[in-house]
Amino acid sequence: MQGKLKNILSEAQQELSQIDNLEELNDIRVRFLGKKGQLTGVLRGMGTLSAGERPVIGRLANDVRSQIEDILERRTAEIKEKHKIVQLESERIDVTLPGTSFMMGRRHPLSIVQEEIEEIFLGMGYAIEEGPEIETDFYNFEALNLPKDHPARDMQDSFYINPEVLLRTQTSPVQVRTMERTAPGLPVRIIAPGRVYRRDDDATHSPMFNQVEGLVVDRRVTLADLKGTLQVFVEKMFGPATKTRFRTSFFPFTEPSAEVDISCVMCGGQGCRVCSHSGWLEILGCGMVHPRVLEVSGYNPEEVTGFAFGMGIERITMLKYGIDDLRLLFENDLRFLAQF
Ligand code: DAH
Repeated sequence: MQGKLKNILSEAQQELSQIDNLEELNDIRVRFLGKKGQLTGVLRGMGTLSAGERPVIGRLANDVRSQIEDILERRTAEIKEKHKIVQLESERIDVTLPGTSFMMGRRHPLSIVQEEIEEIFLGMGYAIEEGPEIETDFYNFEALNLPKDHPARDMQDSFYINPEVLLRTQTSPVQVRTMERTAPGLPVRIIAPGRVYRRDDDATHSPMFNQVEGLVVDRRVTLADLKGTLQVFVEKMFGPATKTRFRTSFFPFTEPSAEVDISCVMCGGQGCRVCSHSGWLEILGCGMVHPRVLEVSGYNPEEVTGFAFGMGIERITMLKYGIDDLRLLFENDLRFLAQF
């Protein structure tokens, strides 16, 4: 019996030294120490032993059991450790590898420039107004001193929805809408950015484009205020060295009217292809608000005066960034947009 017990121990030692996973280890536990296991088998035969042998064999059996248990425990720990190392190795992450970068969105150049224009005028005390893109003939034309048969309507070929409703061709109707709401309150000092629509489509015209309208109404507002304001705007937008020039012009809703040129941003006024060798670039239209426009909108032209201006955001953007084709602004080509 003693021999049997020693065999059991050495067999268990032998088997346990060869395995490398926990399932096999458990098999061995069952086979040697389980209820129907080898050691239990030996102990069952104890009854046949003499009283003197029994405690000796009993002690030896317990000793074998605890030795096997020790080995089981050690091997369990070893196998677990080994698995952990294998797992760590296979799931290893190299934190120094460069990550997969993803594309970041950014603002469209037109949005950048619109916000810049807004910031400049907000800084001068202006409020921002909005108006509808689907507009009535009254606000888009009539109230701005452009009656139905007026030839100046030809300059703005329009998308009509019906004879009285159209897509606005300019942001100027926001002047009238604002004054109607605020009259006779003073001062009025607003800009109105937004989309406008005209039936044009080529390298320099898009059927949809953006404008910013400006309007100031108060007592004793003069042409000098208009010039000073736009001068400040131009210097902030294009740099302090930029020169400004006012040329007389015509708009039905202003009297007198002017167009503003700036010294060419490409050549500084020397003359180049961009400014058609004139040294100047036209950037906006402006003037003193026509008395009839003040009147329709609820202000008394005997008491108040005002100035107004309107500029195309696309044009300002193209000049500011040296973009030579308007269509680039609408094609959504990331190679272009990623440059801003
Ligand atoms: N609405 C004009 C246009 O689209 C631009 C303009 C000119 C606006 C003179 C004004 C202004 O407010 O006073 O061509």
